[in-house]
Amino acid sequence: MSETKRSWENRLSGHPDELAADFVQSLSYDRRLYKYDIVGSIAHAGMLAKRKLISKEEFEQIKQGLIEIGQQIDAGRFKFDKKLEDIHMAVEAALIEKVGEPGRKLHTGRSRNDQVAADIRLWMRDEIEILQAKITILQKAFVALAEKYADNIMPAYTHLQRAQPVCIAGYLLSFVEMLSRDWIRLKNCRTLLNISPLGSGAAAGSTLELDRKSTCEDLGFSDITYNSLDAVSDRDFCAEFIFDCSLLGAHLSRLAEDFIIFSTNEFDFIRIDDKYCTGSSMMPQKRNPDMLELMRGKTGSLYGALMAMLTILKAQPSTYNRDLQEDKIHVFQAADVAGQIVDMAAAIINNTVFNTAKIEAGMDAGFLDATAMAEYLVMKGLPFRTAHGIVGSLVAICEKQQKSLSQLELTELQKHCNLVGQDVYEVLGARNIVAAYKTKGSAGFSEAAEQIKYWKKRLAEQ
Ligand code: ARG
Repeated sequence: MSETKRSWENRLSGHPDELAADFVQSLSYDRRLYKYDIVGSIAHAGMLAKRKLISKEEFEQIKQGLIEIGQQIDAGRFKFDKKLEDIHMAVEAALIEKVGEPGRKLHTGRSRNDQVAADIRLWMRDEIEILQAKITILQKAFVALAEKYADNIMPAYTHLQRAQPVCIAGYLLSFVEMLSRDWIRLKNCRTLLNISPLGSGAAAGSTLELDRKSTCEDLGFSDITYNSLDAVSDRDFCAEFIFDCSLLGAHLSRLAEDFIIFSTNEFDFIRIDDKYCTGSSMMPQKRNPDMLELMRGKTGSLYGALMAMLTILKAQPSTYNRDLQEDKIHVFQAADVAGQIVDMAAAIINNTVFNTAKIEAGMDAGFLDATAMAEYLVMKGLPFRTAHGIVGSLVAICEKQQKSLSQLELTELQKHCNLVGQDVYEVLGARNIVAAYKTKGSAGFSEAAEQIKYWKKRLAEQ
């Protein structure tokens, strides 16, 4: 390419300062938008032709030129010149070089301000679909693992203290629920962002008779924006997208935390395949869950991106300001990190084994059946508060005698409550309880089986 001239060089004198050129450019990262920039420009040029602002032949030349530039970039044969600042100017300059005069007409009725706003929306639309597909794959991995452990039990913890016995499938399906909300949030985000700012120009629109509906339809947007001043600076969807990624990260960081704890020697509930562990350069015995730790850690980068995006938006004067250029750094970062952690979570879920025998053998510890025993007394006619007190005293006795509730003799139990009968022993014990849960959405065997059926059907359609 010959010495490139920036579009405003007639107005501003002097050579650009190297430091300033480096500082102001976004080409190093916004080249990622090139496909969207090109389809957006083709739609814009098509509209200009329909409105007779350019001729049909000029449109054909512009279109062909842009397609070729796209192919050059695809093939890594495009020379990105940072002096051109951003992908919009790089593509336009290349077009002018390629097709001459018609290329100089492409930017009619357009500013980089409405152009970049459209490009990010187009990019994000696709990116959301990619992320949603990854989430679905992860959900399916959870359901498959849940199916494998539909007849096994584990303790549920609150405050990381033993709480109640649950079906392992029920535990795994809790993540499917979280991910389903993430999926829906992203879908809503996509619906809201899918409107066309093209035609808003730099800030106030154009005196030319542009047909905004035509570019909107060509690009598959559902509507146009209705206030040009807002449209050139609206980045709400960027903040929302990063928020959705952040919450997704929060969910997966909780999974990571659980699995890190479950894979310690102390717990030994699960074994994560060697492929997803690392060793130590010094301690020969180590098997560290670094992938999970990074899933947890990378969530921090998502929160960082969210905070950066919100801060960029804060207190900007109305309409476009160059601050907005920074938006792309953070939406790209969020999309990449979110995609990575979802992929990694799916790989780990596909390669994790629960030590069911070990878990089941330890189910007597921690009085997991205390709540079920209190409910047994309720069924015998006691007010729950009274039942809670009685079982609390029994637990204290058991603790002293190092026994579980089911190891207490019937006579001992009856000393505390004469309503207790022999049938109490059918109620106690983790397995009996998990089989007895009745409420919709509970973590019992029957409900987990129902939920597995439900998710299989729903995810097949998702
Ligand atoms: N590279 C810029 C961005 O990403 C494009 C818009 C620049 N507009 C301007 N008037 N300086 O936001």
